[in-house]
Amino acid sequence: MFVTVFSTKSYDRNFLTAANDGKDHDIRFLDIRLSPDTAVLAEGAQAVCAFVNDDLSAPVLEILARGGTKLIALRCAGFNNVDLTAARDLGLTVARVPAYSPHAVAEHTVALILALNRNIHRAHNRVREGNFALDGLLGFDLHGKTVGIIGTGTIGAVLARIMAGFGCTILGHDVAENPDCVALGMEYVPRDEIFARSDILSLHCPLTPDTHHMIGFDTLKLLKRGVTIVNTSRGAVIDARAAIAGLKDGTIGGLGLDVYEEEADLFFEDLSDMAIQDDVFARLLTFPNVLITGHQAFLTHEALTAIAETTIANIDAFARSGAAVHEISVEKLAPKP
Ligand code: NAI
Repeated sequence: MFVTVFSTKSYDRNFLTAANDGKDHDIRFLDIRLSPDTAVLAEGAQAVCAFVNDDLSAPVLEILARGGTKLIALRCAGFNNVDLTAARDLGLTVARVPAYSPHAVAEHTVALILALNRNIHRAHNRVREGNFALDGLLGFDLHGKTVGIIGTGTIGAVLARIMAGFGCTILGHDVAENPDCVALGMEYVPRDEIFARSDILSLHCPLTPDTHHMIGFDTLKLLKRGVTIVNTSRGAVIDARAAIAGLKDGTIGGLGLDVYEEEADLFFEDLSDMAIQDDVFARLLTFPNVLITGHQAFLTHEALTAIAETTIANIDAFARSGAAVHEISVEKLAPKP
């Protein structure tokens, strides 16, 4: 099958090429993002492979369908950037990668927790400058602390297991209890209680109207003073302006972010020779107790292998039978943000 890949990074090229070994799909890699202006570049491709910040709105899908595209193969789990109704009306099949390594994301969360708590980011800079003073680097033992996990699905459950290994008390909050977490000794509590009791709060829920700005101006007063908050789920679960207020008055003692509400304008690109236009993001970067990574929690060898293999499996199945393995449609699924 002739496949055009948009928003290609070197790792996409490497892992998709490896997964295609022996399948012989004709893959053309484009660095450019999919948009109304670039969709025409896919002309003649039966499948288009896209990522989280590619534009798959109705106008783009119309151009793709006109150019002969039959399959949209997303190399990610979320599909909030796809107009599924338009895809159905145009006869386009949409497929995704519903799950890859939950360990990748959970372990990155732990990396943020440990780095923030022990000030690894600051210590690294100091030592490189020959400054071996320890003032300002005081941390706390994780052992015996209370970790609150909001969203105890696949990733939240892996994090719970890791943090239990540190000797932490594990609280959970979810719309449904996960028996694996209960077996681990997790205590499920209402949202207000998890806010009030957690020394470390980690977010692993999807972005929905219910979770949008879950950490916001209204909820700051409910948090345990000095709490460390880590978000590797979706940016808009935290209101970044409220987080800044919480950091300024000490309500939030540490903030680790892998996702940010307005990340589409920043993440995945090298903007190092440009001025950051987002003043909220720029303010966040000024706090010594804020650590931000650019949506890289999924970036492990194992996760990228799984993403590439599932993407090629979707394309392969579609080429053989006209149906992908992990199809999504307006009828089949409630949207996962
Ligand atoms: P999952 O679907 O297995 O688990 C999500 C959990 O959140 C479920 O148990 C669900 O019941 C719960 N939930 C739903 N609404 C809730 C609410 N209102 N309050 C509390 N809990 C609620 O999803 P998974 O795979 O564990 O992913 C979790 C998050 O991580 C998602 O937001 C996903 O987009 C994000 N993610 C981030 C990545 C990154 O690179 N930073 C990579 C992969 C996923």
